[in-house]
Amino acid sequence: MLSENRVLLIVSGGIAAYKSLELIRRLKERGAAVRCVLTRAGAKFVTPLSLAAISGDTVYDDLFSLTAEAEMGHIELSRDAGLLVVAPATADIMAKMAGGIADDLATTLLLATDKPVLVAPAMNVRMWEHPATRANVEMLAARGVMRVGPGVGDMACGEFGEGRMAEPDEIVEAIEAYFRGAGAAVTPSRGKSPEARRLAGRKALVTSGPTHEAIDPVRYIANRSSGKQGHAIARALARLGAETTLVSGPTNLADPAGVTVVHVETAREMLEACRKSLPVDVAVCAAAVSDWRTADAAAQKIKKNGGGGRKLELVENPDILQTLASAENLRPGLLVGFAAETEKVIANAKAKRRKKGADWILANDVSPASGTFGGDRNVIHLIDDSGVEDWPPMSKDAVAGRLAQRIAEQLAEEP
Ligand code: C5P
Repeated sequence: MLSENRVLLIVSGGIAAYKSLELIRRLKERGAAVRCVLTRAGAKFVTPLSLAAISGDTVYDDLFSLTAEAEMGHIELSRDAGLLVVAPATADIMAKMAGGIADDLATTLLLATDKPVLVAPAMNVRMWEHPATRANVEMLAARGVMRVGPGVGDMACGEFGEGRMAEPDEIVEAIEAYFRGAGAAVTPSRGKSPEARRLAGRKALVTSGPTHEAIDPVRYIANRSSGKQGHAIARALARLGAETTLVSGPTNLADPAGVTVVHVETAREMLEACRKSLPVDVAVCAAAVSDWRTADAAAQKIKKNGGGGRKLELVENPDILQTLASAENLRPGLLVGFAAETEKVIANAKAKRRKKGADWILANDVSPASGTFGGDRNVIHLIDDSGVEDWPPMSKDAVAGRLAQRIAEQLAEEP
């Protein structure tokens, strides 16, 4: 219970601000007195009226309000509270806290207060991972600012990752832990949160991009794969702490941070690089490997001779996914393949899962109308031995994040 405890809740401007209404309700149910301060951006997401109605108190939003100053000076506001809670805490307000900026009522209070502060960060995963935010979070933690969350999950912006504000119940729990004197339960952030280390100690292999199969020194057979999905998967696995090797065919993409990247051209080189990275706990074959290569790549540039046509003799390339599946002692613990289909997506993908010996197949429609190849979005159907799971349309980054979480859950179940 929180009776007799007074919380000053600062609501800054993020989509998660709607959750602060629920937070106030739960705190009041437990007997806490809640008074709210709303930033200008916060007021774009929740109204002062709804905060006032639920908290049963005046909502403060103006540093220079004569009425508010007459009734309750801004210094008084924090003096009156046992704990300051910033929920949602945007990247912006945390940067201001770290930098000692006081340019509105909320930040002035945070700079002037001598009371403990708990932040519940909420932002896009890239903002959360940006070195500027990381440095600010570290600095605030070093100064004793407590933190709850953020969690991992789907975001309002359509992405997936770390940055979702903790749920109201978790924030209440953190506040109760503080007032109980168990402040450690709301561990000040140092380094990555436990969610970010779910694959620590695990090894992952990802293939990505197309392969190029030489016809002669200047021409090659290739396909339209951009490598975006495979690279995003490698990045997502590394983010969860996996020691990740990415074997990539030729792409225009930068090497993902924190990943060991092996650059290859042909299917046979890709297979060789994959073999060298074994054993791994999980392998995700996202590369669009060329099914065929020329039987004999010419040593010199082939010349036109007299307008006639020319036949190319092709031989089949090794199937990397299938080879990994049958790699006796070295078979990856969890083997994931993709099935890019232009028709009968599910039926073809199920057949592919059986034929290649993969544990999971992520089927996606790559018909020209879908815009998947080269695009940023994907529609996935995950096929495993128990059936088909349809994922909603999402960005390739979000697919990667969701897949990495599923992999972490699966590996956690293993002995
Ligand atoms: O047979 P298909 O190319 O549609 O199979 C797709 C899946 O198999 C993908 O996971 C792809 O990375 C993998 N594959 C492979 N080696 C090949 C062909 C496909 O690993 N030679």
